[in-house]
Amino acid sequence: MVYFVDNLIRKRRQLDGLPQLPMQNRLLGHLHIADEVTKLFPPGVHAHVWSEHVRTKYKLPKVFYLDWRQFGPLGLYIGDPVVASKYVTTTQSLPKNPLARVYLETFLGRNDMVTAEGVHWDSLRSIFNPGFSLGNIITLTDSIVHARVTFGDVIHTKAETSELLCSRSSEPARRPWKLWSNGRRLNAEIGKEFDLKIRRRAEQTAPGEKGAIHKKKRSVIDLSLNAYEKETSMFINDGWTAFFHRARQETADILKQDPYLVNKLEYTTTVIRETMRIFPAASTVRCRPTPGKAEAGVLGFVIESETRKQIPMLADAMLRPVAHMIHRNTRFFPNPLKFIPERLIQSQTAFPEKKLFTDAGKDAFRPFEKGPRSCIGQELVILEVKVILALTAREFDFVLEYPGEEADVRYPTPENMVDELSDNTKYGKAIRAGTTKRDRFEGHRVYQRLMSAAKPNGGYPGRIYFHTW
Ligand code: HEM
Repeated sequence: MVYFVDNLIRKRRQLDGLPQLPMQNRLLGHLHIADEVTKLFPPGVHAHVWSEHVRTKYKLPKVFYLDWRQFGPLGLYIGDPVVASKYVTTTQSLPKNPLARVYLETFLGRNDMVTAEGVHWDSLRSIFNPGFSLGNIITLTDSIVHARVTFGDVIHTKAETSELLCSRSSEPARRPWKLWSNGRRLNAEIGKEFDLKIRRRAEQTAPGEKGAIHKKKRSVIDLSLNAYEKETSMFINDGWTAFFHRARQETADILKQDPYLVNKLEYTTTVIRETMRIFPAASTVRCRPTPGKAEAGVLGFVIESETRKQIPMLADAMLRPVAHMIHRNTRFFPNPLKFIPERLIQSQTAFPEKKLFTDAGKDAFRPFEKGPRSCIGQELVILEVKVILALTAREFDFVLEYPGEEADVRYPTPENMVDELSDNTKYGKAIRAGTTKRDRFEGHRVYQRLMSAAKPNGGYPGRIYFHTW
């Protein structure tokens, strides 16, 4: 017991003089923050949602420590994009945190690209890079438009019945039996598709015509198989409606004939990007390399841009560049809680004096993270959402409706997230008095919960209607 307490106190002393949340006592560290957050925020809210709130409330710099050790992790929270890129993800790209691996392994299995390291990651990434390149992804527009037709049929039926819909997003199964059986089924299905694909490729490649298939086939899987074959042969050989209104006016039917037209859907792209700024789905979690060879030459500190303070990256800390926080950094995104797509277009922004379009700002928008470990699927996602949104939003309206509640309830967007929950506001007072439900964040009834990634609370329930012009 004495050893435990002594050890804990020694650990807390590592944080003396560093930016951190107020510590009530050395034994409990910052555990009272968990209590505070639980009382103010909606149940199940994603952890990245409240980090900027506590940072602002306790007037901390954009990089600070949160210490829950013995009960949870020690985290270095990073809301400064320059720090994130320079020391953690890009100029210096640190290894993924083992805790992230443990979490992801339960549903991605071992050997996944997200948590792989070293030559294993290098080889996986080179196999899949060609298929996910922008040049290749654009050739898939036709299939995406085609998929939208099927999707459109489904939502057409739902619009006819106006039934209440709710997406089925849930925390991935954690029971070992369920995980095993789900994984087995998934692997069997994927295995079947792979076998089929490999058989077809073999049939299509006539003897003496090696390489012909490499020219014809352009799907992600085909290009990855090409790369794999190459590699293995080396071894063997607010108005939200108003915004969508503009998107609707963009013609979509001709996309099939000219896929490159998607590049002209500039405003639609900006609407998607601004949505991802406010609601980023994921972030990265890194760590210092284990002492030894790997750590040689690695900078063990960061320098915060505004205070110029040097902050060590402690050995057992989870290093968390939090996209949700960075996207609310007012040096780059003034009025960060407001949905203003034009802010992301240099020629249209109302905030030209801000730093978004400078070197410091180039990494401030990071829903897919940055650096060599950034999301390989980002071009594909943006293309899919762009095509599907451009085509669907023209025909349908989606109205948010939680079961048993009034439809399309909107709360005012607060000036900042601390105000919304402070004891000066009606809502803040009511949640403290326990006379209302904790049901919103930054004015959104659809706040984010952690369900493998950040997902909308309640599966974004609502009804679909035909749009009337
Ligand atoms: C809106 C959708 C998506 C978002 C917001 C997103 C976001 C991210 C983020 C933040 C990372 C970094 C994770 C980390 O460092 O731990 C990541 C990595 C990754 N993503 Fe995505 N992703 C999306 C969709 C996709 C899709 C559709 C695919 C594949 C079809 C994909 C494949 C990957 C892979 C393989 C990595 C690991 C890359 C590497 O480490 O080299 N993602 N994604």
